[in-house]
Amino acid sequence: MVKVITYGSFDLFHEGHYRLLKRAKALGDYLIVGVTTEHYDESRGKLNLMDPIMTRIENVRATGFADEIIVEDHDGQKIDDIQRYNVDIFTVGSDWKGYFDYLNAYCKVIYLERTPNVSSTLRRNSLIRITKIGIIGTGRIAPRFLDESKYVSSVVVSCAYNPDKADGRRFQDRFQIRVYSDSFVEFLEQVDAVYVASPNETHAGYVWKALEAGKHVLCEKPMTFTCNETRELYDYANSKGKVLMEGIRTAYLPGFQQLINVARSGVIGEIRDVEACFSRLADPSSREMTDAKYGGAFLEYGSYSLLPVFKLLGIHYQDVRIDFITSASGIDAYTKILLRYETALGSSKSGAGVKSEGQLIVAGTNGYILAQSPWWLTRAFDVRYEDPNRIDHYESNFKGDGFRYEINEFAGKINGYGGASYKLTPEESIAMADIVERFMKKRGIL
Ligand code: CTP
Repeated sequence: MVKVITYGSFDLFHEGHYRLLKRAKALGDYLIVGVTTEHYDESRGKLNLMDPIMTRIENVRATGFADEIIVEDHDGQKIDDIQRYNVDIFTVGSDWKGYFDYLNAYCKVIYLERTPNVSSTLRRNSLIRITKIGIIGTGRIAPRFLDESKYVSSVVVSCAYNPDKADGRRFQDRFQIRVYSDSFVEFLEQVDAVYVASPNETHAGYVWKALEAGKHVLCEKPMTFTCNETRELYDYANSKGKVLMEGIRTAYLPGFQQLINVARSGVIGEIRDVEACFSRLADPSSREMTDAKYGGAFLEYGSYSLLPVFKLLGIHYQDVRIDFITSASGIDAYTKILLRYETALGSSKSGAGVKSEGQLIVAGTNGYILAQSPWWLTRAFDVRYEDPNRIDHYESNFKGDGFRYEINEFAGKINGYGGASYKLTPEESIAMADIVERFMKKRGIL
């Protein structure tokens, strides 16, 4: 019996896929088809697949050519599969010509002529409208957004807005992108969506105006300073049929998702404590270090350290305690939030001008998860147990500075791929706004 194997993503199944599978089957008696997992595609830089893995598997199955379907989820797996399944022929389309010659050491490699003028990429591009995004605010984060947006094929940053003409002009000259200063309305007319990256106290105002004009909105945290306003904004976005997302970047990282999933899987037993710390010694003259009202540790970093607490313990805590110490400039230099749940405790620490160990520890009844600094850019974490010799180490895909995953989520929501908003739900975002409100009241700002 001649065994043949082939692999692919088979996204938005098309004629090219069908013809490839038909010819692959004809090369032998038994065809194995490897379908890539989302995780593997992400690690190969393919962030924009539209069909979930089960749909892609079903589409391959429906052709009737595959005798067996397996999933492909890591580099190097092909060599293993070929040996394990006693494969005689590896085949793939001619777009990969030469690339898989190294497999000749294990079986015969055949490149089949690719079907012209059809591909998943072409189909995705015809289904997806390129979203034109405008950036509101041209501060430190805007260049990073601009840079990372280039890795998300369905968006283009077309312009920016900054009411400060001199600042806007500098950004325009440096990044060769049109910056509007005079008319916010004119700026909005150029775009389908906005990314709000202006000073904290201006976020909510811009979100209202952009939604009113029918634009999708991705807003830096904190979106507002009150629970009610955040809820109203989500309701308003809903009523307008627009996407509204809070930009807590960590929530969208594959590594953070994996950490949450591993914690929830039960390997560390029942979760009893989630402790997260984020601190940064920022430039003493920077806005976050000097703006006593809207700067400071908690407003800048608190969303990151609250995120794992809410993701793992939920938003229904019994009690919350907020404490901080202020610096000479009047900002909160170090803030601790303690949350009590029925069977667990959560704590979020943020420091600006106070340095601590930035780590995330999730303690359970069987073991704990430790993610070292910078855990908020989750690349790796350990699961540890009573026996100090037993450590399970997890590493995850993390490209660029991680921004692209958030931008891709935003693009996916706008274009209707990527599924539900489970990575950061509106309810979680509203619960965070509630903590922000309590904090602002305690600081006497609200
Ligand atoms: N294929 C083909 N003819 C096409 C498109 C794909 O023969 N017009 C083959 C590929 O060479 C590969 C298999 O189908 O062997 C699965 O390819 P996949 O990468 O899933 O499809 P593409 O359409 O190439 O996807 P993308 O545009 O995302 O690269």
